Amino acid sequence: MRLFTLGARLETAAGFIPSGASVADIGTDHARLPIWLVKTGRCTHVTASDIADIPVQRARENVARWGVSDAVRVVQCAGFDAIAPGSFTHAVICGMGGDTISEILAAAPWIKGARCTLILQAETAARRLREFLYAQGYTICEEIPVLDGRRVYSVMLVRSGADPHRDDPFFARLSAPLLTHRNEAARLYAARAKKSLTREMQGMAPGSAAYREASAFLTRMEEWEAQNA
Ligand SMILES: C[S@@+](CC[C@H](N)C(=O)[O-])C[C@H]1O[C@@H](n2cnc3c(N)ncnc32)[C@H](O)[C@@H]1O
Repeated sequence: MRLFTLGARLETAAGFIPSGASVADIGTDHARLPIWLVKTGRCTHVTASDIADIPVQRARENVARWGVSDAVRVVQCAGFDAIAPGSFTHAVICGMGGDTISEILAAAPWIKGARCTLILQAETAARRLREFLYAQGYTICEEIPVLDGRRVYSVMLVRSGADPHRDDPFFARLSAPLLTHRNEAARLYAARAKKSLTREMQGMAPGSAAYREASAFLTRMEEWEAQNA
């Protein structure tokens, strides 16, 4: 059976995983990433977890179908609830809302001391996820904007430690590492952030502190856009 391709979004997440890493894939659904990591020889053991019955059943079936049951352990739990600290070097949480990702991390505060690397991709509320990460003492070491089909995503590499940009709320909208990318995906990601800010400003009283802050953000986004046109 020829191995499937992951698609740009999960391929970017996989790109953060070095050879020999032990991985926990939280919210694995079809277990595509764990199967791919094992079948390509990148990893020898992966824990694939999901909270819901049907994804867990689907993950188990796929793992068996691809003959990797010895290497991929499928568990049913919320977040990291059934995953032992120290059992992984890299945790992947992709394809969920930013608030859910924050809740999963908040419920496992030991992660920060575990010296592991987090690979995160929020479908929604990425700004709130960045706010959570900065407030909780995580650093966004890298954030790659990705075009996958017609959609633009971003995949973050996060480690424990105070982020140098944590006190500037602009970087919750667009992280500093993301802004170092100068390609179509970065331009589309920034354009989306600008659109959302412009919409928010429509509900603000002109002259208010919030409006002035938002205007200053908009100017910074436009300056970045002008440099990256
Ligand atoms: C859209 S799928 C993403 C699958 C895969 N990670 C990806 O990025 O393609 C989201 C999965 O997260 C699971 N999920 C949602 N909340 C969760 C939680 N708190 N803990 C573990 N899994 C969760 C859902 O059941 C679902 O299977």
